[in-house]
Amino acid sequence: MNINDSEKMGGILVKKGYIPTDKEEEADIFIINTCSVREKAKEKLFSYLGRLKKFKQKKGVKIIVAGCVSQLEKDNIKKRAPYVDILIGTNSYFKLKDVMDKRDYSDFQFYRDWKEIDSQPVRRQNFSAYITIMEGCDSFCTYCVVPFSRGRERSRPMSYILKEVEKLEKEGYKEIQLLGQNVDAYVDPETGGRLDKLLEKIAVNSKIPWVRFLTSHPAKFSIDIVKIMKDYRSILRAIHIPFQAGGDKVLKLMNRGYTRGEYLKLMDSIKKIIPDIALSTDIIVGFPGETNKDFEKTVEILKYVEYENIFSFKYSPRPGTKAFNYDDNIPDKEKTERLIMIQELQKNIQLKNNRKKIGKIFKILTEVKNRRDESQLVGRIESGRIVNVKGADKIGEFYDVLIEGVGPHNLKGKVVNKKGG
Ligand code: 5AD
Ligand code: SF4
Repeated sequence: MNINDSEKMGGILVKKGYIPTDKEEEADIFIINTCSVREKAKEKLFSYLGRLKKFKQKKGVKIIVAGCVSQLEKDNIKKRAPYVDILIGTNSYFKLKDVMDKRDYSDFQFYRDWKEIDSQPVRRQNFSAYITIMEGCDSFCTYCVVPFSRGRERSRPMSYILKEVEKLEKEGYKEIQLLGQNVDAYVDPETGGRLDKLLEKIAVNSKIPWVRFLTSHPAKFSIDIVKIMKDYRSILRAIHIPFQAGGDKVLKLMNRGYTRGEYLKLMDSIKKIIPDIALSTDIIVGFPGETNKDFEKTVEILKYVEYENIFSFKYSPRPGTKAFNYDDNIPDKEKTERLIMIQELQKNIQLKNNRKKIGKIFKILTEVKNRRDESQLVGRIESGRIVNVKGADKIGEFYDVLIEGVGPHNLKGKVVNKKGG
């Protein structure tokens, strides 16, 4: 979503006549779009601002800070980097076109209604497009800064989304990715339609070959979505549905709103409808109070579900969240050990399941050149798994690929048939 926000902000400036550049020396305006879900976003921002100061002194460039760090640390930024011209909050990118001409600190309100951004997103790849369908989160998981940095849930009118999809289809896009912090909270403000309706409308009305969406929430997920996936082949059979932690005690402390039993039941019902669906998850290890026994429960879920992919993180306290006040009592060494353990386990699961793909043919969409071997391209299959492919010559095209080799994180293969989407 952060990338999509950058594309949209860039689009606003392009509409005003600015030209994007990759070279710092050429730039008259810098927009630093920040994300603060994890890691040391604040420090990174200040060190980059320090670097930009010299451009400011030399040629009076304009510096804009956007995103979560701007939202959460506005006073700090004004104090520590008073040379920043514009701070823009996460709900007010739509104001960028108005504040550009002044020195302004924008606003940091959280809006409840959708603010459409009138821009032609720049630097979008020309075959795959992000489309934000909702923003914000009302879930307040105790470790998570998103409800504070992004504000309340608001959904984009379905009619706008469908219009954008239609335009992308005309432009020849092969894939769209619908984005939201919690796509299951999507409610069309005009009709009340939910994600399943949106997916169905896209599948019925457009010829975009591949449609993905993320992120799903286990407590709010509707099984109707899986039924839509079964009925319409363009809705890709992949769901990113984080469970975060495997034990009920930790799930409760995290305020996730479901039990381990409920999560596993949901995974079973999904797989019952589409047995070979690709599931992926986020996991946090070392949440305050997580014992070895609690952690075992996380390991058990990994073994049971056999995810296509996982994103795993060591818990880190985020200021402003409820868990920030909990005792962060798991030593970093222990967190690292738990992280390594699940990553090793997952690696073996992926290797085992990837091996089953050898000798089979998969449709892939090519995305980039292989950095290690320029004669090869890198693409993805429906599940999202990366494939290094020989014999493909065009980026943003579909090919049928015979899988000849695998590692835990990617597949290798050769083109047997060009599909042309
Ligand atoms: N510490 C570690 N991981 C976190 N995430 C969110 N907040 C934290 C935190 N405080 C992870 C969650 C979420 C993903 C986007 O980032 O797993 O799903
Ligand atoms: Fe954060 Fe929880 Fe909302 Fe996800 S559902 S964005 S983890 S508060």
